[in-house]
Formats: sequence, C-alpha cells, structure tokens
Amino acid sequence: MKALLCTAYGPIDTLRLQDAPDPVPAAGEVVVAVRACALNFPDALIVQGLYQAKPALPFSPGAEFSGIILQVGADVTTYKPGDAVIAFAGHGGLAERCAVDAQRIMPLPSGMSFEQGAAFMLTYGTCIHALKDVAQLQPGETLAVLGAGGGVGLAAVDIAKAMGARVIAAASTKAKLELAQQHGADTLLDYASEDLRQRLMGLTEGKGADVVLDPVGGVYAEAALRATAWRGRYLVVGFAAGDIPRIPLNLALLKERQILGVYWGEAVQRNPRQHAANVRQLLQWFVAGSVRPEITEQLGLEQATQALLRLSQREAKGKIVVRIMAESGV
Ligand SMILES: NC(=O)c1ccc[n+]([C@@H]2O[C@H](COP(=O)([O-])OP(=O)(O)OC[C@H]3O[C@@H](n4cnc5c(N)ncnc54)[C@H](OP(=O)(O)O)[C@@H]3O)[C@@H](O)[C@H]2O)c1
Repeated sequence: MKALLCTAYGPIDTLRLQDAPDPVPAAGEVVVAVRACALNFPDALIVQGLYQAKPALPFSPGAEFSGIILQVGADVTTYKPGDAVIAFAGHGGLAERCAVDAQRIMPLPSGMSFEQGAAFMLTYGTCIHALKDVAQLQPGETLAVLGAGGGVGLAAVDIAKAMGARVIAAASTKAKLELAQQHGADTLLDYASEDLRQRLMGLTEGKGADVVLDPVGGVYAEAALRATAWRGRYLVVGFAAGDIPRIPLNLALLKERQILGVYWGEAVQRNPRQHAANVRQLLQWFVAGSVRPEITEQLGLEQATQALLRLSQREAKGKIVVRIMAESGV
C-alpha cells in the first residue's frame, strides 16, 4: 500500500509518500481501507515529536478517518468486512490501509459522507465535551470562541448555537470570520485589528463573556481570560499559537473565574458512557442540520504534506480532508 510516512521526528516537509507493508489485524483490531482522512492540528505536532503521543517509527499521521473494513482480527464480533466506519486511531489515517483497535471505530452514520465522517468526531467530540460536560454552558449565556474559523473553532460555534448560547466568534482574518458567521455566530471580532479584551467587554456591556473556548493560547489567552464575567469559565483547549501562556492566578481570584482544562481523548477513555451520550446528541444535531463539518478543501494523499504545512502556518480554514482512492473490489 501507499502511505505518507514519518520515519524520523522532525519538520513536516520530511514526510514522504512511500510503499509500506499492508497491515494485518491483531486480535481486537480491524483493517480499514481508508477513504477519507481529515487533518487536525495535532497531526502537524505528532510528526514533529511535539505531541503527548509519540508513536513508534515509522508511522503515518492522520488521527481520524473513515473507510471500509477489509479484515477483522480474532475476537472482533461487532464488525465485519464491508462495514463503513469512522475511526479515531490517533495516527495511521494518511495511508491506503490502517489497522485500528475495534474500540476506536464506530459505524459511519447513514446520511454522512466518508468526507464528513472523517472530519466530524475529533473536533465536534472535543467541543461538546468542553461546552456541555466541562463548562456546562447554559442557554442564553455568552460564549467567546477564539480561532473561530479553525476546525475546533467552527465546531464550537455550531455546538454553542445548538445549545442556545450567544456566540462571539474571534479570529484573525475576514475569511475565517465569514465562515463562523455562516455557522451562526452572532457577533464577529477580528483580533488581528481589534483589542480582544476591550472589544469582548464592550460586546457584553462591560460584564464579560460567561465562557471562553480557547484552542489558540499565545497572547490571546490572558486577554480573553481578563474579559470573562464574574464566575466566568475559561476553557483551555489548545495552544495552536505555539506558546503555552503563563497566567497570573490573581485573575482567577478577582472574579471567581474558573480555568478549566479540556482533554477529550482522556475523557473518552475515562467515561465511555458520557462519550456515547455525546455522540448520540451530535448525530441528532447532524441529522437536524444544526451541526456540519466545514470541509474547505479536498486533496489527494500526495498533497497532504503541503496541507499539513499550511495548517501549521495558520493558513487553513475549517477542515481539510485528504481523499484516498478506493481499492478495487472494496
Ligand atoms: N484539548 C483537546 O482535547 C483537544 C482536542 C482537539 C484539538 N485540540 C487542540 O486544539 C487546537 C486547534 O486544533 P484545530 O485542529 O482546530 O486547528 P486549526 O484548525 O488549525 O485551528 C487553529 C486556529 O488557531 C489559530 N492560530 C493562531 N496562531 C496560530 C499559529 N501560529 N499556527 C496555527 N494556528 C494559529 C488560527 O486561527 P486565527 O488565525 O483566527 O487566530 C487557527 O485557525 C490545537 O492546539 C489542538 O491540539 C485539543
């Protein structure tokens, strides 16, 4: 099979499309013929050795994908060859085939394309967990979303609107803000040209946002935290800007603010029932048309390295999906 391989942790442009041995399913695993693999910021980090998970070399990046089961290993009874599935494997999706633990797949819901299925679970799963389980966002509350034109950001906009919140979308370009508006954001804030803290305070009549969802970090983190309301909740989701902010703790004390960490992958392992309930809710919203992944680009495997580079350089919008040719007979 063809696979985009990371043979040494390092710069993204050292990834190479190569021939690799076809995977064989171990007990409890299935082998999926990959149809679509969505790119996420952690894919860019994992190949550089900058992510918490460090797979054994060589490996293919690609945390989430969809496809058709080719083979099942011993002990796998819930799936069979020919089943269409979504997989959250952590890595391996930027290849024609991937062996994945059967616990980390789910059936592709009817009405969802392979591309949508690949682009759904990581960002929407993270944001429903962040907004519902962690922040307990209430209807009528105001949520500020940073990086609102990115994968996580747009999912947060969709979910917060579905939960009945007022959404202030903050991002660095007009094009990213327009996408957030199309997903239902009530107010737009361009933090490349406007002062994030002052504008957030102005948009909330000096009260501050009830909840901030921050997948960006960097210089925006402290400004956004300072613009939260009395007992506001600030969700630490990621650090796409690179720097991990150091926050003065008096900001928590002064308004009884809560700084809340979000670690979706770990939360899924620790509370699979809650995750299953969240997936059911997401699928209901998808069927109702209130949430949908924004696929802005569809590319081939040979263009995946360039796409990962653009993602890591702040140039991507919404979700980029790599389509992988179906194998004959599948
Ligand atoms: N905690 C969890 O469980 C969890 C789960 C999934 C993802 N994450 C994290 O969430 C973050 C976002 O992931 P994503 O897949 O949504 O990424 P994404 O689509 O690339 O969006 C990230 C956004 O960050 C902003 N940004 C600011 N400075 C940047 C820079 N130097 N390079 C790249 N982007 C920059 C960009 O928006 P502007 O240009 O508008 O600022 C960009 O749209 C990542 O840090 C990821 O690791 C965490």
